[in-house]
Amino acid sequence: MIYLDNSATTRPFESVIEEMNRCMRESYYNVSAAYAPAMLAEKEITRVRNRFLRSVGLTGGRAVMTGGGSESDNLAIMGFAETLHAPGTFLVSPMEHPAVLETLNRVQRLGHTIRFLPVGPDGRVNVQEALNLVDQETVMILCMHVNNETGAIQPLRELFRGAKAINSRVVTLSDGVQGYLRVPMNMQDTGTDMYAVSAHKIHGPKGVGALAVRSELRLVPQVTGGGQEAGLRSGTLNSPGIRGFGKAIEECEEGNVPERLMGLKARLVKCLSGQEGIFFNGPDPLCAEKSAPHILSVRFEGVRGEVMRNALEAGNILVSTGSACGSHKQKVSSALRAMGLSTEQADGTIRVSIGLMNTPEEMEQAAESMIEQAKLLRQFRRR
Ligand SMILES: Cc1ncc(COP(=O)(O)O)c(C=O)c1O
Repeated sequence: MIYLDNSATTRPFESVIEEMNRCMRESYYNVSAAYAPAMLAEKEITRVRNRFLRSVGLTGGRAVMTGGGSESDNLAIMGFAETLHAPGTFLVSPMEHPAVLETLNRVQRLGHTIRFLPVGPDGRVNVQEALNLVDQETVMILCMHVNNETGAIQPLRELFRGAKAINSRVVTLSDGVQGYLRVPMNMQDTGTDMYAVSAHKIHGPKGVGALAVRSELRLVPQVTGGGQEAGLRSGTLNSPGIRGFGKAIEECEEGNVPERLMGLKARLVKCLSGQEGIFFNGPDPLCAEKSAPHILSVRFEGVRGEVMRNALEAGNILVSTGSACGSHKQKVSSALRAMGLSTEQADGTIRVSIGLMNTPEEMEQAAESMIEQAKLLRQFRRR
């Protein structure tokens, strides 16, 4: 089987599984307890926290451990919105994951205004036009690091720094679930105040995530109780999950990840390029500054993405249409529509997402199958 849905989730590293096993067998203590073994266990968690903060360029900031990317987004957005005493404007890219967009619906119900940032045909926020929307009413700008459907790397530095130059009180949030450790991130340099990540996208465990927060920023906790995580997220810490996450960070940092993934993607792109009726959505897929190394959005003229996905699955190749990481329901892709694709073009798209366990041979096999299936399936197209 060729697994090419690594943006939905990744297979955990063996070292992650071993670390989690070890933690559950030998270091299962509640890290808030006062005896020595628990304190040792807590030290391990602190090590992960510091490693995470270093990896996003925020030494000195806070790392709140959460139950995943969705929870990190929720804490950042609702936690900030609930500190506000007067209505404000939230500017957001229309291509965000539902973890952001649905949470903003709740923010709107609190009396705040939501406005969408303009997007160019390459699926990246148009910074010049976006900055025209920033004014003294703007309280927050939200923009993902990498789009989960097209792989477009967003111009965070220009957007966030530009917005702060207009209104220094603006708070910035980036959903880094698809970018973290596959595209370099430095929160200080990009002017990012909060960055949300998820462990299961980097070959770590599911149900674990983190939110990096600049230390001066105040948030209202969304899970209240025993006051863990400096009062920001109550509940006994998921120590095996957090240690598994730490192991995944370590492996990725030592694993030359962006280059390895881009090498695989280049192979796939090369095989598909120039084939009749096959196109790539988003920025130039081989431009490392604009396109993430692990996501390729491929459009087939005259073939529905869903049909292509099923045909590939019959040949043991797993890809997805759109983001598909929430439920089984199929929606028209917000990202593809935001960049101006027609419904038919969006419908004809599949997402191929690569992970560290894929091989160059798999890229060639997958491309061959796509080309072959496209030719075959086009014969059945309705005229
Ligand atoms: C961009 C983005 N944000 C948030 C999430 C949600 O992350 P989690 O599954 O860890 O809750 C996903 C999941 O695919 C995602 O792609």
